[in-house]
Amino acid sequence: MSRSAELAATIRDRAGAEPPKLGLILGSGLGHLADRVDGVAIPYEDLPGFPHAGVSGHSPKLVVGRLGETRVAVFGGRSHYYESGKADAMRLPLEVLAELGAEALIATNAAGSLQPDMPTGSLMLLSDHINFSGLNPLIGEPTDRRFVPMGDAHDPDLRDALRRAARAEEVDLHEGVYAWYSGPSFETPAEIRALRTLGADAVGMSTVPEIILARFLGLRAAAVSTITNMAAGLSDEAISHEHTKAMAPLGAAKLERVLTRLLSGQLD
Ligand code: HPA
Repeated sequence: MSRSAELAATIRDRAGAEPPKLGLILGSGLGHLADRVDGVAIPYEDLPGFPHAGVSGHSPKLVVGRLGETRVAVFGGRSHYYESGKADAMRLPLEVLAELGAEALIATNAAGSLQPDMPTGSLMLLSDHINFSGLNPLIGEPTDRRFVPMGDAHDPDLRDALRRAARAEEVDLHEGVYAWYSGPSFETPAEIRALRTLGADAVGMSTVPEIILARFLGLRAAAVSTITNMAAGLSDEAISHEHTKAMAPLGAAKLERVLTRLLSGQLD
């Protein structure tokens, strides 16, 4: 049995066999959405190979159960490339999600804004992304499945459903392009100017490898950023991890409403 099949069997034993429809990766500030799930929480340490989420602001557990009408698997913490130097750090958790029978992934993250009209506290639905890191979680994958098309990587129907949920909650949902910067240092002002020229609207240190892996695994994918700061050089605001954690709840409260609304209906 593969490692992901073994872990999926463990999860089914503890949380029930009904497949989750959707996986949700919670970024900074969204951790308590996991506590709203009516289901079973499994600490990552009980799931060998899952990341030891070592970044403060992330909560390392998988919760499988119901949020609204929808059976979900909520990842309370993620592993970032900058923790291990491994771009595929989230491969096993996402393989397990696919193995459990999920159809889709929604990733959330904290990000810096490159758009003056998208201030701290805003939400941005990713219309697309730029892999500014040059890294890829599929490097080393030996099969031809590695040549994943990325044309509609951010699923149009899922994005539509997120837009409708935001509208129903009267939450302003910006849309734009997210650039993945490896971290853990923040960007320089010159890098941010370069990213603006390249067409990025927000920048962050996660999510892109997860979207690539999700598509590789045949999961539909979408992602939403909570804007925690203006990117380097765009305001006088100091940029720091503490600031990210302090500002994340502003957008997180709105994003929780949007996600809860999305999951209260049929997800098609
Ligand atoms: N840059 C990269 N990652 C981030 C930022 C940023 O400005 N803010 C939150 N995560």
